Amino acid sequence: MRIIVPITPEIESYIDEVGYREHPVLAACRAEAQTRGAMAVMQIAPEQGAFLQLLIEITGARHVLEIGAFTGYSTLAMALSLPEGGQITTCDIDEAVINVARQFWAKAGVTHRIDVRLADAAKTLGDLSDHGESFDLILIDADKPRYPTYLEYAIKLVKVGGLIVVDDTLIHGRVVTGSLDGDPDYVRPAVEAMRLVNKRLHNDERLTIAMVPAHDGWTLARRRF
Ligand SMILES: C[S@@+](CC[C@H](N)C(=O)[O-])C[C@H]1O[C@@H](n2cnc3c(N)ncnc32)[C@H](O)[C@@H]1O
Repeated sequence: MRIIVPITPEIESYIDEVGYREHPVLAACRAEAQTRGAMAVMQIAPEQGAFLQLLIEITGARHVLEIGAFTGYSTLAMALSLPEGGQITTCDIDEAVINVARQFWAKAGVTHRIDVRLADAAKTLGDLSDHGESFDLILIDADKPRYPTYLEYAIKLVKVGGLIVVDDTLIHGRVVTGSLDGDPDYVRPAVEAMRLVNKRLHNDERLTIAMVPAHDGWTLARRRF
């Protein structure tokens, strides 16, 4: 048995009150996403941003890779925590959202820390791998059906001792129930992909893993050798 606290609106407000400190430009980026209706859920929650910042501080990560930038919230959260000289490479395919993201990054004064690769992420990851790049921390948060491909690249691209963070590993619990009647068509391939990813992470002895049952499920994986 596990203790899982159901997140009521009151608890959500309490988390907002005392659960993290948010840079004003991050708050503005979050407010902008709220104007996008259902798309707003694409953005990680503010306490997840704080968690990523903490991971960067704890690990001393300097070289970060992000797969899925959207309007730049997670990118900005991580960029703000990087030490001097640190760099994030972020992948997205949607120029419109990246143009919005760039405005927030500029406002926060971190544009110089962010290298945007505007292309299909699998192509970018192939290029990075061909160039022998490696990263201290990799966040996977893009199109779910491609996660198995992204994870294979991430395992290759992460440094020994580095961390991979995989978002949405529970997909609203559908990894267990399968897609339900009424789910949109994209759920089924996403669930299949995530089941593969979770097994792959679990079976790879090189990785120390922990699935965190918060939000939509986060799995952290540290490459040991
Ligand atoms: C869940 S959102 C990322 C949210 C972001 N991490 C945040 O916290 O704000 C997923 C992003 O992946 C991008 N994406 C979808 N398919 C992609 C692909 N094949 N290659 C690169 N990016 C892709 C979408 O354009 C979208 O912006």
